Amino acid sequence: MPINRNYSFIAKVYLLLVLALCSTPGFGQALRSVKDFDNGWMFHLGDVPGAEKLTFKPVGWRTLNLPHDWSIEGQFSKDNPATPEGGALPGGIGWYRKVFTVQLSSKGKLTYIDFDGVYQKSEVWINGHRLGFRPNGYISFRYELTDYLNYGTKPNVITVKVDNSTQPNSRWYSGSGIYRNVWLVTTGQVAVDQWGTYVTTTDVSEESAVISIKTTINNNILNPDKKFTLSTAIYGPDGKPIAGNISPEYYLKDGMVNTSQGIRILKPKLWSVDSPYLYKVLTKVIMDNKPVDEYWTTVGIRYFDFDKNKGFSLNGKAMKILGVCNHHDLGSLGAAINIRAMERQLQMLKEMGCNAIRTSHNPPAPELLDLCDKMGFIVMDEAFDCWEKPKAKFDYHLYFKEWAKRDLTDQLLRDRNHPSVFIWSIGNEIPEQGDSTGTRIAKELAAVVKEYDNRPITTANDKPWNGNFIVKSGELDLVGYNYHHNDYESFHKTFPGMKFIGTETTSALQTRGHYDMPSDSIRRWPNNKEMKNGVGIMNADYTVSAYDNVSAPWGSTHEETWKLIKKHNYLSGMFVWTGFDYLGEPTPYTWPARSSYFGIIDLAGFPKDVYYMYQSEWTNKPVLHIFPHWNWEAGKTVDVWAYYNNADEVELFLNGKSQGVKRRRGEDLHVMWRLKFEPGTLKAVSRKNGEVVLTKEIHTAGAPAKIELVADRNNLTATGKDLAFITARILDADGNVVPNADNRVTFKLTGNAFIAAVDNGDPVSHDPFKADNVKAFHGLALGIIQARDTPGTIAVTAVSPGLSTAVIYLKIK
Ligand code: GAL
Repeated sequence: MPINRNYSFIAKVYLLLVLALCSTPGFGQALRSVKDFDNGWMFHLGDVPGAEKLTFKPVGWRTLNLPHDWSIEGQFSKDNPATPEGGALPGGIGWYRKVFTVQLSSKGKLTYIDFDGVYQKSEVWINGHRLGFRPNGYISFRYELTDYLNYGTKPNVITVKVDNSTQPNSRWYSGSGIYRNVWLVTTGQVAVDQWGTYVTTTDVSEESAVISIKTTINNNILNPDKKFTLSTAIYGPDGKPIAGNISPEYYLKDGMVNTSQGIRILKPKLWSVDSPYLYKVLTKVIMDNKPVDEYWTTVGIRYFDFDKNKGFSLNGKAMKILGVCNHHDLGSLGAAINIRAMERQLQMLKEMGCNAIRTSHNPPAPELLDLCDKMGFIVMDEAFDCWEKPKAKFDYHLYFKEWAKRDLTDQLLRDRNHPSVFIWSIGNEIPEQGDSTGTRIAKELAAVVKEYDNRPITTANDKPWNGNFIVKSGELDLVGYNYHHNDYESFHKTFPGMKFIGTETTSALQTRGHYDMPSDSIRRWPNNKEMKNGVGIMNADYTVSAYDNVSAPWGSTHEETWKLIKKHNYLSGMFVWTGFDYLGEPTPYTWPARSSYFGIIDLAGFPKDVYYMYQSEWTNKPVLHIFPHWNWEAGKTVDVWAYYNNADEVELFLNGKSQGVKRRRGEDLHVMWRLKFEPGTLKAVSRKNGEVVLTKEIHTAGAPAKIELVADRNNLTATGKDLAFITARILDADGNVVPNADNRVTFKLTGNAFIAAVDNGDPVSHDPFKADNVKAFHGLALGIIQARDTPGTIAVTAVSPGLSTAVIYLKIK
């Protein structure tokens, strides 16, 4: 590959050329257009054979904007075919239809429709012509429309059939429909192909780095005499062009032309989780001295290593991977993606000190990876939850043989430029770990990955022992452990010479705000005796104590696994199951529970107490968190826990009287006092060298008296998609949160906005999420407000019988 060693001269010449091009008439005209194609679809729930035909009239179909998840609009029922495991919401078949025109100026260009994800088994038609079928609900795909389009005023009709009727097909809530974004892309006849750049960085140091760009050009002209060049500019994190080059001339001899360029840049700003500096590459295709396509690729410059003894390092510095696993649902918004909802989740995790995300167990929305690039998260990008053997009757195993290589290739091509992606996982708890087909398939999938990228490959193994046929394939760069924390310390004996990653850990269980005494014994739950016919728990009250002392039998408490990961350098990191509660898999209970208890943060986005354990361990900011609440029966023995850092000790006072000073000893991650309850004030003081670091107080709350509204953000953008997450807190007359308040709160709006969903984090609630009211759960409720696309003011009012009303104002700009 040509590398510009004479950097400064060539860069100057190049930049002059760029400026010259910018000033030629026509520059800046859209050479490629990528249009958000989300608005103005029609939808019908239920099968309508023949709806793809041009003569079809969509009578009674509803109009909506994508992304859309029809399951989340439904009613919870244990009889829905998804089963409580899949979230207990309806599936079925749905049809989408959009009528649109294409301007005359697009004639002679190439037009595509890009779907970021459709769950699942989608079939697409344009003007009655069938474009194809895609079974995988998490993969992004494109169809070319050019040959079937009408231009000018004559309308076109896109029809999409989505079939999520064969269930169960998932071990968690999948959602149904066109739940990710759709784009209409137009390019010239010679253009960068879909996912057509592959940008890598090599030779990275503080001094310089080489940005290598491979480009695939889709050539529709097929004129062997025509030539093109690529002109490439690199833009720095400040948005200014800093380097570039112009390629040699290439002949347009084949349908696809692959090119390759290398550009050295000086003093690069390295991408890291703390400083996620991003560069941009602008690729221009030049023919007859004119740009015919422009294509942007985002790049991060960084290097990393997994070492069998020293663990993970980023840019030469040792670092633990402090990750969480998440499913793709966004709580009460369902699977329908929303950038702000994803960003909010990531912000909360970042605040906790989390630096890594596992996209369990499927390729994520592309915007999640954009956010991880920008915000500084390391991503383990996962492909599959099963291979040829099933986990659910109708899951992807039905399609694996025919589609897995194609889907994995598309995932790689789509995601490999993201600096946040560090690990490819080719499977989670794959049943083939136990037989020799595991070796064969691992080899086949690893070959696909290696064809497109050289980042480490792993699988998440619930059988992390040396007989594992997937590990035995020799194809894994990292041995992924799911659970089995008691085997971590014999890792090198089991897998000599290999490198470790805790692909999935913990599976601790908690209900936010619920506390059972005593708290100082650990419970694996459920155990067999507590199961009724293997499916439920006898005498269940559907709560799990929020002290970190309960886990699934295959897991651990949060503290147990973190203590181990923290202790040994060779344990490169962990992905806690899970960052957020998710719909489906309602462990340890089953119906009426319909969502998980695993999250560090609940389904509504309210942190459970253990969030602060991680924050005290994973960040440097001072933490002092005490719990439980202080509303108990007189005389009850109550355990008070404190998570703290940056301090030597914590002293607890009950109504002014010291309950003693506690210090964490050895590996301890919290301290505890056992008190007899008396109403009043519990106050904790953390101190370092005798100086007070932080003080926290909890008061016994009186009866619910009023609502307080707290918005995550008061200023929204008028895109039609921006959200405000409004927490309604039920307070007593003195302003204390009433810990067991379950008052029903109704949200009322004025202004250009609507209520996107409500929630309270209760895994057992069967109230609809698409509503204007919700009961508080342990004193808190959530209203998610979506701004429309016109500026103005929104007033959000929360009312509840017997409580004083609250109002909050938001601005849409
Ligand atoms: C793991 C599995 C996850 C989830 C979790 C619950 O074994 O990989 O998908 O089911 O258990 O603890």
